[in-house]
Amino acid sequence: MIEIAPSILNADYGHLADQVRATFEAGISRLHVDVMDGVFVPNITWGPDLVASLRPLADEFGARLETHLMIVEPDAWLEPFSAAGAAIITVHVEAAPHLYRSLLRIRELGCEAGAALNPATPLAAIEEVLGDLDLALVMTVEPGFGGQELIPATLDKVRRLRGLLEARGLVERVAIEVDGGVHAATIRSAQDAGATIAVAGTAVYNGRAPVATNLGVLRAACSVG
Ligand code: DX5
Ligand code: ZN
Repeated sequence: MIEIAPSILNADYGHLADQVRATFEAGISRLHVDVMDGVFVPNITWGPDLVASLRPLADEFGARLETHLMIVEPDAWLEPFSAAGAAIITVHVEAAPHLYRSLLRIRELGCEAGAALNPATPLAAIEEVLGDLDLALVMTVEPGFGGQELIPATLDKVRRLRGLLEARGLVERVAIEVDGGVHAATIRSAQDAGATIAVAGTAVYNGRAPVATNLGVLRAACSVG
Protein backbone atom coordinates (compact mmCIF):
# COMPACT_ATOMS: atom_id res chain seq x y z
CA MET A 1 0.00 0.00 0.00
CA ILE A 2 1.11 3.57 -0.68
CA GLU A 3 2.91 5.23 2.25
CA ILE A 4 1.38 8.44 3.61
CA ALA A 5 3.72 11.33 4.39
CA PRO A 6 1.69 13.97 6.24
CA SER A 7 2.64 17.58 5.44
CA ILE A 8 2.49 19.90 8.44
CA LEU A 9 1.98 22.95 6.22
CA ASN A 10 -1.65 23.27 7.31
CA ALA A 11 -1.24 21.97 10.85
CA ASP A 12 -2.27 24.12 13.80
CA TYR A 13 1.06 25.79 14.55
CA GLY A 14 -0.05 26.70 18.06
CA HIS A 15 -0.24 22.97 18.80
CA LEU A 16 2.35 21.69 16.38
CA ALA A 17 4.17 19.31 18.71
CA ASP A 18 0.86 17.73 19.81
CA GLN A 19 -0.24 17.27 16.22
CA VAL A 20 3.09 15.77 15.20
CA ARG A 21 3.02 13.43 18.19
CA ALA A 22 -0.50 12.31 17.27
CA THR A 23 0.73 11.70 13.73
CA PHE A 24 3.57 9.44 14.87
CA GLU A 25 1.31 7.70 17.37
CA ALA A 26 -0.99 6.87 14.46
CA GLY A 27 1.87 4.87 12.91
CA ILE A 28 3.32 7.42 10.50
CA SER A 29 7.07 7.15 10.04
CA ARG A 30 7.70 9.90 7.51
CA LEU A 31 6.82 13.57 8.07
CA HIS A 32 6.86 16.05 5.19
CA VAL A 33 8.23 19.52 5.98
CA ASP A 34 7.50 22.16 3.33
CA VAL A 35 10.20 24.82 3.14
CA MET A 36 9.20 27.96 1.19
CA ASP A 37 11.19 31.13 0.60
CA GLY A 38 8.65 33.57 -0.84
CA VAL A 39 10.68 33.65 -4.07
CA PHE A 40 10.44 30.24 -5.68
CA VAL A 41 6.85 30.05 -4.42
CA PRO A 42 4.51 32.82 -3.24
CA ASN A 43 4.55 31.76 0.40
CA ILE A 44 7.04 31.64 3.29
CA THR A 45 7.43 28.90 5.90
CA TRP A 46 10.34 27.58 7.90
CA GLY A 47 14.06 27.08 7.98
CA PRO A 48 16.30 24.38 9.48
CA ASP A 49 15.42 25.38 13.06
CA LEU A 50 11.99 23.81 12.76
CA VAL A 51 13.55 20.56 11.58
CA ALA A 52 15.94 20.65 14.55
CA SER A 53 13.00 21.21 16.91
CA LEU A 54 11.02 18.28 15.50
CA ARG A 55 13.93 15.89 15.31
CA PRO A 56 13.81 14.63 18.94
CA LEU A 57 10.12 13.79 18.55
CA ALA A 58 10.78 12.00 15.28
CA ASP A 59 13.63 10.07 16.89
CA GLU A 60 11.38 9.03 19.76
CA PHE A 61 9.17 7.23 17.24
CA GLY A 62 11.88 6.16 14.81
CA ALA A 63 10.33 8.44 12.21
CA ARG A 64 12.09 10.42 9.51
CA LEU A 65 11.76 14.05 8.45
CA GLU A 66 11.70 14.85 4.77
CA THR A 67 12.29 18.42 3.70
CA HIS A 68 10.70 19.62 0.47
CA LEU A 69 12.78 22.66 -0.46
CA MET A 70 10.67 25.09 -2.49
CA ILE A 71 13.45 27.65 -2.53
CA VAL A 72 15.85 29.22 -5.01
CA GLU A 73 19.53 28.30 -4.79
CA PRO A 74 18.90 25.22 -2.64
CA ASP A 75 22.59 24.20 -2.63
CA ALA A 76 23.33 26.74 0.11
CA TRP A 77 20.78 25.06 2.38
CA LEU A 78 21.63 21.40 1.98
CA GLU A 79 24.18 21.33 4.78
CA PRO A 80 22.03 23.33 7.26
CA PHE A 81 19.01 21.08 6.71
CA SER A 82 21.12 17.97 6.95
CA ALA A 83 22.74 19.24 10.16
CA ALA A 84 19.29 20.03 11.55
CA GLY A 85 18.27 16.41 11.14
CA ALA A 86 16.53 16.01 7.79
CA ALA A 87 16.73 12.41 6.57
CA ILE A 88 15.51 13.19 3.07
CA ILE A 89 16.16 16.42 1.18
CA THR A 90 14.26 17.20 -2.01
CA VAL A 91 15.21 20.06 -4.32
CA HIS A 92 13.15 21.42 -7.20
CA VAL A 93 14.73 20.82 -10.60
CA GLU A 94 13.51 24.27 -11.69
CA ALA A 95 15.70 25.82 -8.98
CA ALA A 96 18.70 23.51 -9.31
CA PRO A 97 20.57 24.03 -12.61
CA HIS A 98 23.35 21.67 -11.52
CA LEU A 99 21.01 18.97 -10.36
CA TYR A 100 23.53 16.13 -10.48
CA ARG A 101 25.87 18.03 -8.18
CA SER A 102 23.03 18.91 -5.79
CA LEU A 103 21.92 15.27 -5.55
CA LEU A 104 25.47 14.09 -5.03
CA ARG A 105 25.95 16.64 -2.25
CA ILE A 106 22.75 15.54 -0.50
CA ARG A 107 24.00 11.96 -0.49
CA GLU A 108 27.46 13.03 0.67
CA LEU A 109 25.74 14.64 3.65
CA GLY A 110 24.23 11.25 4.48
CA CYS A 111 20.67 12.06 3.40
CA GLU A 112 18.41 10.56 0.77
CA ALA A 113 18.24 12.69 -2.35
CA GLY A 114 14.99 13.80 -3.95
CA ALA A 115 14.14 15.85 -7.04
CA ALA A 116 10.78 17.55 -7.47
CA LEU A 117 9.00 18.50 -10.68
CA ASN A 118 6.42 21.26 -10.97
CA PRO A 119 3.27 20.33 -12.92
CA ALA A 120 4.52 21.90 -16.16
CA THR A 121 8.04 20.48 -15.91
CA PRO A 122 8.57 17.48 -18.18
CA LEU A 123 9.80 14.16 -16.87
CA ALA A 124 12.87 14.58 -19.08
CA ALA A 125 14.25 17.00 -16.48
CA ILE A 126 15.21 14.05 -14.25
CA GLU A 127 15.71 11.36 -16.88
CA GLU A 128 19.52 11.66 -16.86
CA VAL A 129 19.80 11.43 -13.07
CA LEU A 130 17.34 8.66 -12.27
CA GLY A 131 20.19 6.50 -10.97
CA ASP A 132 21.25 9.26 -8.57
CA LEU A 133 17.82 9.64 -6.98
CA ASP A 134 16.25 8.10 -3.92
CA LEU A 135 13.00 9.96 -4.51
CA ALA A 136 11.20 11.58 -7.44
CA LEU A 137 8.51 13.99 -6.34
CA VAL A 138 5.80 14.74 -8.88
CA MET A 139 3.95 17.88 -7.84
CA THR A 140 0.25 17.30 -8.39
CA VAL A 141 -0.56 20.98 -7.71
CA GLU A 142 1.42 24.18 -8.20
CA PRO A 143 3.57 24.42 -5.08
CA GLY A 144 2.97 27.09 -2.48
CA PHE A 145 -0.25 26.28 -0.67
CA GLY A 146 -2.20 23.40 0.79
CA GLY A 147 -5.81 22.69 -0.01
CA GLN A 148 -5.67 22.86 -3.80
CA GLU A 149 -7.25 20.35 -6.18
CA LEU A 150 -5.04 17.70 -7.76
CA ILE A 151 -4.30 18.40 -11.43
CA PRO A 152 -5.39 15.17 -13.19
CA ALA A 153 -2.79 15.34 -15.97
CA THR A 154 0.00 15.05 -13.41
CA LEU A 155 -1.02 11.46 -12.70
CA ASP A 156 -0.13 10.60 -16.26
CA LYS A 157 3.36 11.89 -15.50
CA VAL A 158 3.45 9.56 -12.49
CA ARG A 159 2.45 6.67 -14.75
CA ARG A 160 5.21 7.46 -17.24
CA LEU A 161 7.76 7.87 -14.45
CA ARG A 162 6.80 4.48 -13.07
CA GLY A 163 7.23 2.96 -16.53
CA LEU A 164 10.63 4.58 -16.95
CA LEU A 165 11.85 3.33 -13.57
CA GLU A 166 10.59 -0.17 -14.32
CA ALA A 167 12.31 -0.16 -17.70
CA ARG A 168 15.60 0.85 -16.06
CA GLY A 169 15.27 -1.63 -13.20
CA LEU A 170 15.11 1.20 -10.67
CA VAL A 171 11.59 0.86 -9.36
CA GLU A 172 12.72 -0.67 -6.06
CA ARG A 173 15.36 2.02 -5.51
CA VAL A 174 13.55 5.25 -6.35
CA ALA A 175 10.41 6.23 -4.46
CA ILE A 176 7.68 7.97 -6.45
CA GLU A 177 6.02 10.65 -4.38
CA VAL A 178 2.96 12.75 -5.20
CA ASP A 179 2.31 16.03 -3.43
CA GLY A 180 -0.80 18.18 -3.55
CA GLY A 181 -4.52 17.54 -3.56
CA VAL A 182 -4.22 14.08 -2.07
CA HIS A 183 -7.36 13.19 -0.10
CA ALA A 184 -9.77 10.30 0.26
CA ALA A 185 -11.17 10.76 -3.25
CA THR A 186 -7.79 10.97 -5.01
CA ILE A 187 -5.28 8.84 -3.10
CA ARG A 188 -6.37 5.63 -4.79
CA SER A 189 -5.82 7.06 -8.27
CA ALA A 190 -2.33 8.20 -7.22
CA GLN A 191 -1.60 4.70 -5.97
CA ASP A 192 -2.97 3.14 -9.16
CA ALA A 193 -0.80 5.48 -11.25
CA GLY A 194 2.25 4.01 -9.52
CA ALA A 195 3.06 6.42 -6.71
CA THR A 196 4.66 4.80 -3.65
CA ILE A 197 4.42 7.79 -1.28
CA ALA A 198 1.55 10.27 -1.00
CA VAL A 199 2.02 13.59 0.76
CA ALA A 200 -1.20 14.71 2.40
CA GLY A 201 -1.62 18.07 4.11
CA THR A 202 -5.16 19.33 4.61
CA ALA A 203 -6.53 15.79 4.43
CA VAL A 204 -4.62 15.08 7.67
CA TYR A 205 -4.57 18.46 9.45
CA ASN A 206 -7.85 20.27 8.98
CA GLY A 207 -9.46 20.90 12.34
CA ARG A 208 -12.50 18.85 11.29
CA ALA A 209 -11.40 15.54 12.78
CA PRO A 210 -8.44 14.26 14.78
CA VAL A 211 -5.27 13.34 12.93
CA ALA A 212 -5.71 9.61 13.61
CA THR A 213 -9.25 9.65 12.21
CA ASN A 214 -8.15 11.48 9.09
CA LEU A 215 -5.30 9.02 8.55
CA GLY A 216 -7.73 6.14 8.95
CA VAL A 217 -9.95 7.58 6.23
CA LEU A 218 -7.00 7.94 3.86
CA ARG A 219 -5.75 4.43 4.54
CA ALA A 220 -9.21 2.98 3.97
CA ALA A 221 -9.47 4.86 0.67
CA CYS A 222 -6.26 3.19 -0.56
CA SER A 223 -7.63 -0.27 -0.14
CA VAL A 224 -11.14 0.32 -1.49
CA GLY A 225 -11.63 -1.51 -4.79
C1 DX5 B 1 2.34 22.48 -1.51
C2 DX5 B 1 3.09 21.58 -0.58
C3 DX5 B 1 2.30 20.42 -0.11
C4 DX5 B 1 1.05 20.78 0.64
C5 DX5 B 1 0.03 19.75 0.33
O1 DX5 B 1 3.21 23.40 -2.04
O2 DX5 B 1 4.26 21.09 -1.19
O3 DX5 B 1 3.11 19.52 0.64
O4 DX5 B 1 1.18 20.86 2.02
O5 DX5 B 1 -1.18 20.14 0.88
P1 DX5 B 1 -2.54 19.43 0.44
O6 DX5 B 1 -2.39 17.99 0.76
O7 DX5 B 1 -3.57 20.11 1.25
O8 DX5 B 1 -2.70 19.68 -1.04
ZN1 ZN C 1 5.43 19.45 -0.17
